[in-house]
This record gives sequence, C-alpha cells and structure tokens, in this order.
Amino acid sequence: MKILAIESSCDETAAAVIDGKAEQVRVLSNIVSSQIEIHKKYGGVIPELAAREHVRNIIPVINEALFEAGIKPSEAAKKLDAIAVTAGPGLMTALSVGVESAKSLALAWKLPVITTNHIAGHIYANWILSEQPKAKLQFPMVILTVSGGHNMLVLMNSHLDYTVIGDTLDDAAGEAFDKGAKMLGLGYPGGPAIAAAAASIDNDQLSIINTLPRPMITAANFNFSFSGLKTALLYALKKDKTWRKKIPAYAAEYQQAIIDCLVAKTIKAAKKYQAQTVLLAGGVSANKELRRQLAEAVAVKLPGVGFGLPELQYTTDNAAMIASAAYFLAREKHYTPWQKISTNPNLDLI
Ligand code: KG4
Ligand code: ZN
Repeated sequence: MKILAIESSCDETAAAVIDGKAEQVRVLSNIVSSQIEIHKKYGGVIPELAAREHVRNIIPVINEALFEAGIKPSEAAKKLDAIAVTAGPGLMTALSVGVESAKSLALAWKLPVITTNHIAGHIYANWILSEQPKAKLQFPMVILTVSGGHNMLVLMNSHLDYTVIGDTLDDAAGEAFDKGAKMLGLGYPGGPAIAAAAASIDNDQLSIINTLPRPMITAANFNFSFSGLKTALLYALKKDKTWRKKIPAYAAEYQQAIIDCLVAKTIKAAKKYQAQTVLLAGGVSANKELRRQLAEAVAVKLPGVGFGLPELQYTTDNAAMIASAAYFLAREKHYTPWQKISTNPNLDLI
C-alpha cells in the first residue's frame, strides 16, 4: 500500500511516500523543510510565520517527495493508494495548510484520505524499516513519547489502541530543554544545544552533578512535572556568579535530571503493565543520552523485555512517521471523506 503523507503541525513542512506491507513500512521518500532558522531569532515558534512558510513550501515539498519516490504527479492518482495528513494536535494555522492541501489532492486524484494524530505518528516511527535489525515489537507496549508539546507514557495492547497512563502536569520534556537552553544562553532549539554543551563537560566541572531536583520521581503515578526543575536551574544560576564558566556542567546536570525522571517512570510503568516491549518516540528521542540510558535501564531492569527506538531521521517532526501511522489506520479502513476532514489543534490520542 503506497501512501503520500503531509505534516505541517509546527515548524517543519514535510511530505513522504511510504510502502506498507504486513507489519512494516518502507520509506520511498522523506522530505522535510525546516523553519528553524526563521524562528531561531525569536527563541521559539511564531505561529503566523510558521503558517506563511508552510504556504510557501508545501507544494514544492510534496512535489519533491513524489519525485524522489519515482512518482510523476500525472501518475499519482494511479500509483498512490491514499493520502495521509496530520489533523492535530498542533498549531491551528500551521495544521490547516497541510489539511487543505491534502483535501485538494484527494479531490483532484480521487484518493481516500487518512487523518492522523501527530503523536500517533511519533509512536509509529518505530515501525519504519531501518538498516539496523530491530527487536520484534510485541504487545503490550509502554511508549515514552517526548517532544516539544507532548510528554506522555502510553500503553498499547494492540495496534491503534492507546491508553495514556502518564502525562506532564506542566511543561513537556522538549519544552523543558528549550527553556533551560534559553537560560543558559544556548539558543534554539534547546534540546540539541543542551545535549552538545553537556557532551563537552570536563572533570573539574563535576561539582554540579546531582544538585538539581528530579520532580515527582518517586510519586506513585506515571506523571511528570518539569516546571520546578526549570525554576531550580534559574535560582542555581542566580546564586552562582561564575556559572558562565560552567555551562557544560549545568547543561549536563539539567539534561540528566530530565532523563532520570523519564527513565524511572517508564521502567515503573513497564513493570506495572507487564510490557513486552518499551518504545521511545518524539523529538526528544533524538537525545543520545536518553536513547542510551533508557536502552540500558530496560536491559538491566526488565530482562526479556524488548526495546525499540526510531532511527534519528524519524525522531523529530517528519511525514514518514505520519504515513506509517496512516498505513496501520488504512489497514482498518479508517478513511475520512475529504468533505468531513477538519483540523483539531487539541486532537486527543485515542
Ligand atoms: O517532536 P518534535 O520535533 O516537535 C513537537 O512535536 O513538539 O520535538 C521537538 C522538541 C524540541 O523541544 C527540541 O528541543 C527537542 O524536541 N529535541 C531534543 C533533541 N532534539 C530535538 N531534545 C533533547 N535532545 C535532542 N537531541
Ligand atoms: Zn512532533
């Protein structure tokens, strides 16, 4: 089954073509046009600017995705089986650009449309075929989904069956990375900036290790809270007149505090729900330390449980992951007539 997917929920304009068969998804093309350079000067995504950029880029990006997949626009109606699009959650005006484009193409090419949840897309990035051999993905699964806007622990007992068992009470992990990076003067987006600074820590800066709190780490639930950690960093920097000389140490400690909370709750949830597989998903899953430490924790603390994570190129926003989720929806005939498609900035994962 060949699917063209469109993703425009935040600051990446993306289109991809995939071929789905049985339990796996092969990527034929995956084009992402990033707006990071535009939003960088404001320290965050400006919705109106994001929407304008999507309008400018969406057709060229779709055209490029078709070209790379070896599909001429004139043959698209015959060669594709469906069009998928992110309907939410995300920024309303940004989402609308992708949704309206998908509707237009569906009408022109007489193809069915599959509306997809952005977070489901992040989760289904784990079903994309990769060059590395992967663990067999067996249900039940506990998935840690961590991105800029979302931070959840999700239980899946079968395909497309999501139960949110943990959520953030305030900031998402990605947001915490972005805000921490701002305080440390490390720029936007904060996740990669903090990770890079943390990696350059040297031995005489180790005094900061374990000085920041790990909020809610022992709480008897699977929720997260990162706003107190952010405030703790702010006060630590205010108190330390020489912090500018120790940025890698503060970055490493801040990153580790976030990772400790994420890993502890994920392991606890996997134990409680007797997960066969633990998966990592979302933009923050690009973080090398989180990837390494969660893999290690699963191996040590959950013997016999599988662990999976997306290839780096499918961690931050892209359309291949949306196509992957759409493929599993299409198998169940979850199509929406183009007249009934609507954008929902607060779309729930159900
Ligand atoms: O999933 P995503 O691309 O967009 C949303 O759906 O929100 O996630 C973006 C988030 C940003 O907050 C960014 O700082 C974070 O993912 N991120 C990282 C890394 N790369 C991206 N966080 C930590 N380490 C990284 N290497
Ligand atoms: Zn995302």
